[in-house]
Amino acid sequence: MAQKSDQSNEVELHLEHVDKAHISHELFHPDPSISAHAHVSSLKQYQELHHRSLVNPVGFWTELAKEFYWKRHWSSTALSCWNFDRRAGKISIGWFTDAKTNICYNVLDYQIKKKNAGDRVAYYWEGNDPDDSRVVTYAELLKEVCKFANVLKAQGVKRGDRVAIYMPMVIELVVAMLGCARIGAVHSVVFGGFSADSLADRMFDATSEILITADGVFRGTKLINLKSIADSAVAKCKDKGFEVKRLIVYKNLGDKLTAHLDADTLAGDKSPPSKRVRQLSWDSHIDVWWHEVMSTASDECEPVWVNAEEPLFMLYTSGSTGKPKGVVHTSGGYLVYTATTFKYSFDYHPEDIFWCTADIGWITGHSYITYGPLANAATSVMFEGVPTYPGPDRFWAIVAKYRVSKFYTAPTAIRALRKFGDDHVKKHDISCLKVIGTVGEPINPDAWHWYYEVVGNKKCSIPDTYWQTETGGHMITPLPGATPMKAGSAGFPFFGVVPILVDKQGEELRGETEGYLCIKQPWPGIMRTVYGDHERFEQIYFDRFKGYYFTGDGAYRDKDGYYWITGRADDVINVSGHRIGTAEVESALVAHPAVVEAAVVGKPDDEKGEVTYCFVTLHDGAVFNDALVEDLKEQVRLKIGRFAAPHVIQNTPALPKTRSGKIMRRILRRVVRNDHDLGDVSTLADSSVIEQLFANRPEQL
Ligand code: PRX
Repeated sequence: MAQKSDQSNEVELHLEHVDKAHISHELFHPDPSISAHAHVSSLKQYQELHHRSLVNPVGFWTELAKEFYWKRHWSSTALSCWNFDRRAGKISIGWFTDAKTNICYNVLDYQIKKKNAGDRVAYYWEGNDPDDSRVVTYAELLKEVCKFANVLKAQGVKRGDRVAIYMPMVIELVVAMLGCARIGAVHSVVFGGFSADSLADRMFDATSEILITADGVFRGTKLINLKSIADSAVAKCKDKGFEVKRLIVYKNLGDKLTAHLDADTLAGDKSPPSKRVRQLSWDSHIDVWWHEVMSTASDECEPVWVNAEEPLFMLYTSGSTGKPKGVVHTSGGYLVYTATTFKYSFDYHPEDIFWCTADIGWITGHSYITYGPLANAATSVMFEGVPTYPGPDRFWAIVAKYRVSKFYTAPTAIRALRKFGDDHVKKHDISCLKVIGTVGEPINPDAWHWYYEVVGNKKCSIPDTYWQTETGGHMITPLPGATPMKAGSAGFPFFGVVPILVDKQGEELRGETEGYLCIKQPWPGIMRTVYGDHERFEQIYFDRFKGYYFTGDGAYRDKDGYYWITGRADDVINVSGHRIGTAEVESALVAHPAVVEAAVVGKPDDEKGEVTYCFVTLHDGAVFNDALVEDLKEQVRLKIGRFAAPHVIQNTPALPKTRSGKIMRRILRRVVRNDHDLGDVSTLADSSVIEQLFANRPEQL
């Protein structure tokens, strides 16, 4: 069950300072060919619209909401919470509160009807293997979704039930999400890179009795044996006293998997050879094949008309302390917000081909592969593989193949691909690109310039979209036809968004300044609660700075009002755009018998943005050697997932603590950077620790 241990007030905030010497205020104006046809074609027009969205938020958003189908319209109280002042009572946010709608109906049936989009391609699916591809139209997608909704009903899934989804990047993942939405069930997608433990924790917390998964997937040459991880998660749930009743398994690999299972390359399988799985495990009491249950299902399914504020999905995300929290989004506001941000941030037009390279297991995929594009009847590319397989030109080959005009990826991918050189980009004709966005972490000016010049040929706009799982959609971003860009800045707030910077006391700072990034008033896409723990929701986001939503990030606002995000100010690390809570890694490390105590901080990294740097104190008698380091890395892979594996592990006889026993992470961050300028250390209980910490830094760093 959701636990109540998150005391974000106790987390010591730290602001990374923007490196003013390394940022430039040179303006890169949108190409006139983009501005000429853009939805917003000048800065002035953006400013007017933004102003209008703040003066009359209800008028602004209800106008946009009329683009969609509402079974019952909202009354005059379309917005139930005007500010984030907790002193006025509970934080209870509602948009279009008493309206009834169905998001699945809106993104499929209604698009087909209103825009005659039945024959329009919803997804060009591109497999891990370059000659594996599929094309799915809106009409075909609707039929599959209806069939799957009927399958769910036949399995006893009802409105409000949580359905866990642990799938690769296949069309069926979208079908599963929309199938849930159609019948008012709540999807809880778990990224395929999470381990069995993480999957089990999420199913347990959400009491998801049904899990949709697949036999496996290749990412590059690496096999991810999803079914075996899912089985193990089901067993772990059982150990906790919770019974998962049904696994619906999509056959993604079929024979390819069984052929591979024979080899010793089984991903993550450290068991002795005699115990290795040689065939797909199957428990006929709970496992059913996707294609078998779908074969008899009707392709018609009346949508369930839900209240606009009923939960649509939950997505777990890491915070400063405690276990990951189930961020809950609802239907009405999320629909309008993702649809609108998609249209304006990417300046979407019907002739565009859009490609977001994220995994649907993260919020970016939810909002900009599934809901935002479909709500605009857009055609998207969906990609199963990785950027470097079979070669480091894969992204650009796909852009050229489908004539992608709007492309959206992460700085970490940009930095990684840049290393392979410009020729991989230049050998493909990618002149079709008009807008090339980024998301997930700050983009350093160097990477920005490469993206702008080599990928965008100096004519593409770059929406550097700042947002979070919690915000549902973009919060701060340049608009392609309107905003002159600065390399590395997220630009100006989206419609309806009022960002402010505050100091440690929560006082609003004006003009050019650095501070903690908060948002002043509700926008339609904001999360509504933490699943099962509304108090934790209020504590985490609204208690630290009274009256404001706190993002957890620091930012700099320059003299022209541009925002530059400087990174997390709390104990969250952003590794390759993946959000990792230090507390989670620490608890994985201390679960190892050799470890007494652990503290984890972020270390800046040229390619991944940040990596995890772990300090461990061992039990008497335990020996710190390469084998233990490997063991500890494996421990984190098993407890959280491969992507969270520690980068550096340093042994330390003790951690720097205050007299009250609180770990001083500020000092650890300095040790990581080999920066001896420690500031005030008068509260440190034992200052001899510092010398040891610096002396024990691994030599290669
Ligand atoms: O620190 C910010 C960073 O990613 C965090 C949110 O992570 P998550 O909820 O996993 O969502 C990622 C995709 C929306 C933020 O608190 N972040 C996201 N986008 C940017 C960013 N930092 C700087 N610039 C961005 N464009």
